[in-house]
Amino acid sequence: QRLKEAEERARNRPRVFKEPKSKSTPVQIWKCPPLGIESHKVEPDQFSASSSSQYYFAPQRARLNMQGSDDEENMRGGAWCANAEDRIHWFEIDARRETEFTGVITQGRNSFNDDYVESYFLAFSNDSREWTTIHDGYSDWLFFGNSDKDTPVMNQLAQPVLARYMRIIPQSWNGSLCMRLEVLGCPLPGDPRMQNEVTPVDYLQFKHHSYSEMVSFMKSVNSECPNITNIYSLGLSSKGLDIMAMVISGNPMEHEIGEPEFRFTAGLHGNEATGREMVLLFMQYLCKEYKDRNPRVQRLVEGIRIHLVPSLNPDGQVEAFEAGSELSGWTTGHFTEDGFDIFQNFPDLNNILWDAEDKGMVPKLTPNHHMPLPANLETNSSIAVETKAIISWMKSHPFVLGANFQGGEAIVAYPYDSLQDRRDQGYGHREEEEDDRGRSAGYQYSEPDDEPRVVADESLFRWLAVSYASTHLTMTRSLYGSCHGDAAGGTHGIVNRAKWKPITGSMNDFSYLHTNCFELSIFLGCDKFPHQSELAVEWEKNREAMIIFMEQVNRGIRGIVKDQQGNPIANATVSVDGINHDVTTATTGDYWRLLNPGEYRVTVRAEGFSPVTKICVVGYQSGATACSFNLAKSNWDRIKQKPAIASGNKRVVDGVNGHSANSQVSTERQRRLRIARIRRLRQQRLLKLRSMTTLPPTTTTIPTTPETTTSWYDSWVTGEGQSSTPGGFTDSILDYNYEYKIDDY
Ligand SMILES: *[C@@H]1O[C@H](CO)[C@@H](O)[C@H](O)[C@H]1NC(C)=O
Ligand SMILES: *[C@@H]1O[C@H](CO)[C@@H](O)[C@H](O)[C@H]1NC(C)=O
Ligand SMILES: *[C@@H]1O[C@H](CO)[C@@H](O)[C@H](O)[C@H]1NC(C)=O
Ligand SMILES: *[C@@H]1O[C@H](CO)[C@@H](O)[C@H](O)[C@H]1NC(C)=O
Ligand SMILES: *[C@@H]1O[C@H](CO)[C@@H](O)[C@H](O)[C@H]1NC(C)=O
Repeated sequence: QRLKEAEERARNRPRVFKEPKSKSTPVQIWKCPPLGIESHKVEPDQFSASSSSQYYFAPQRARLNMQGSDDEENMRGGAWCANAEDRIHWFEIDARRETEFTGVITQGRNSFNDDYVESYFLAFSNDSREWTTIHDGYSDWLFFGNSDKDTPVMNQLAQPVLARYMRIIPQSWNGSLCMRLEVLGCPLPGDPRMQNEVTPVDYLQFKHHSYSEMVSFMKSVNSECPNITNIYSLGLSSKGLDIMAMVISGNPMEHEIGEPEFRFTAGLHGNEATGREMVLLFMQYLCKEYKDRNPRVQRLVEGIRIHLVPSLNPDGQVEAFEAGSELSGWTTGHFTEDGFDIFQNFPDLNNILWDAEDKGMVPKLTPNHHMPLPANLETNSSIAVETKAIISWMKSHPFVLGANFQGGEAIVAYPYDSLQDRRDQGYGHREEEEDDRGRSAGYQYSEPDDEPRVVADESLFRWLAVSYASTHLTMTRSLYGSCHGDAAGGTHGIVNRAKWKPITGSMNDFSYLHTNCFELSIFLGCDKFPHQSELAVEWEKNREAMIIFMEQVNRGIRGIVKDQQGNPIANATVSVDGINHDVTTATTGDYWRLLNPGEYRVTVRAEGFSPVTKICVVGYQSGATACSFNLAKSNWDRIKQKPAIASGNKRVVDGVNGHSANSQVSTERQRRLRIARIRRLRQQRLLKLRSMTTLPPTTTTIPTTPETTTSWYDSWVTGEGQSSTPGGFTDSILDYNYEYKIDDY
């Protein structure tokens, strides 16, 4: 009866929304930001509650947008839930210091059940013993909460309340008493949290951009730096918005021979806003630092063609932006206008390759790269228009390395992203059902016996992932497990996607299997759409990591493949012994093959030419090793006609595997050459250690027997080999300590 009366009064009460003035920034009038329950800034011991129905519905599960799992082995509650037997229920937050509270956002439980809190009282305290309940002058002020389980609902206080503790006292609920929440409040000046805040360079614009603001922002960077930037469109979204890109390079309008192309993309999911803003800030940063003659930035801009796409899903961006940083929830704007999750909307090429691998056809009969696209891609209505635009963009530039920024976790995920198709288990189906409910945003959980395929370039992908995660200021510090409590990724900030949350048709797998580009996913944090006031801190966390990651485009070998007249050969394949994944040359004959330091036997093949094999050495010094090839027209006809002469030649083209062999060079001589070469390289490393100056890249071009050579990289990462292996060797391009063993991850 009392609740009914309170509801009645609450309904008739005029709503007073006063924008509280933040004392910490007196000039600005703004809503106080979230305390950081969703972002995990608020720590688990700051929560307490009257009770919990189960330990996996403990108070720390109450974070806004927390994702649960009903998996029996690894049950994780999608909310805090109270014990139904109790008479009195409350949920308490200790802000740890005096705070000006201005509002509360609540959400129901992430599960198939409809559990949510419909109304509650709010009480405040300075000592958690004496409580003051918000009152309307007549009785306690009833706040209306949720009417479904997913949509966040905000209640702002008419007057800010100064206190340290806050309690939510649920009064009515649907289903079980379960809730997730965020609290809005301004810490008072003099708060140590404020002193820790970074003071970033003042020319950067830390704000969330709507679609049109984003476009004009890009135009302003372009007019600021017209010589090194250019803006273009990848194509149109379903609603007709351009998918805008900016290219930054010494000569932005065209591909320069030998210059690798790199990409950062964001906003595949429109509500994952951090990545978009990081990419926009990166544009502004590169432009300004280039003009200010920052030598590192000048080197990057002049040596790499950098493509930056802040929003691959503009329709989703518009939808999420309207809802705003606190109320966009877990899925608002996640999908395209037509309901696709772009990141997992690419053709599934994995199973085609894996089936061929299982039949022993790779690489002799089926190539291990550039898997053909399915027929009718353009007319297939199950592929989003945005995805089609991205595919043709991926094919139209010789991209070498890229990353897509996502959100909702704090981890770098490397491919493969997909598990082998098990049609009989109906995997694809389950995923679709979940998408329809908009619940899990398409995540599936792997069964323990699904052993994922290992990508041929795994050690390189792990290196790339580590380069970002360990440079990011907080990604490797996952003290409380990952954002949603499934700490499968371990504590080092990197994970193989297929082992973690497998998906089929991912952009990363597609990029690796259909193009030359190595692509990873970088998840920037638990809160997909953080409050604007967090952007400066996010930038500081990511800036160096973005640069370091981009510098990895120069790890490995590069070169130009030409014929004997000096004409470039397009679409030649570059194969590295021991890595079952080839790359091809661009139309200008140039190629890049990302490789960890080591010694590699590299073979280049092109139709109508004799293959050539070389040893290319990747050292620890900065810059890719130059390793170019000149191919002679093949003499097939002559060899076929005169086999006797051919076998007497010094160098014979091996018709079966295409490797050139040299029967006259004795194994002993080979061995001596190899030892001499290794000695020379060790010498160089020693020199480098002493002087810490950079040596020019080394190319060694001696024909060798196909015997396997142990690269120092392998012995380094596995810890095998002699004491002279570069155990704690640091890479000079990275002014950063990389004394990690890859196998530790
Ligand atoms: C907490 O203490 C401050 C003074 O330090 C006072 O203004 C405020 O009203 C107190 N809050 C509550 C809920 O008692
Ligand atoms: C309230 O919860 C019940 C299950 O407890 C559910 O059947 C019903 O649909 C929910 N009501 C609404 C309005 O969602
Ligand atoms: C662009 O290049 C031209 C000539 O190379 C130079 O004069 C001009 O100052 C440059 N503009 C900017 C904004 O850097
Ligand atoms: C369209 O694409 C989907 C997803 O890649 C695929 O499953 C389907 O077979 C394709 N349909 C046709 C007609 O090619
Ligand atoms: C590239 O070469 C392969 C054979 O090595 C051929 O199948 C493919 O069609 C060629 N692609 C282009 C674009 O020329």
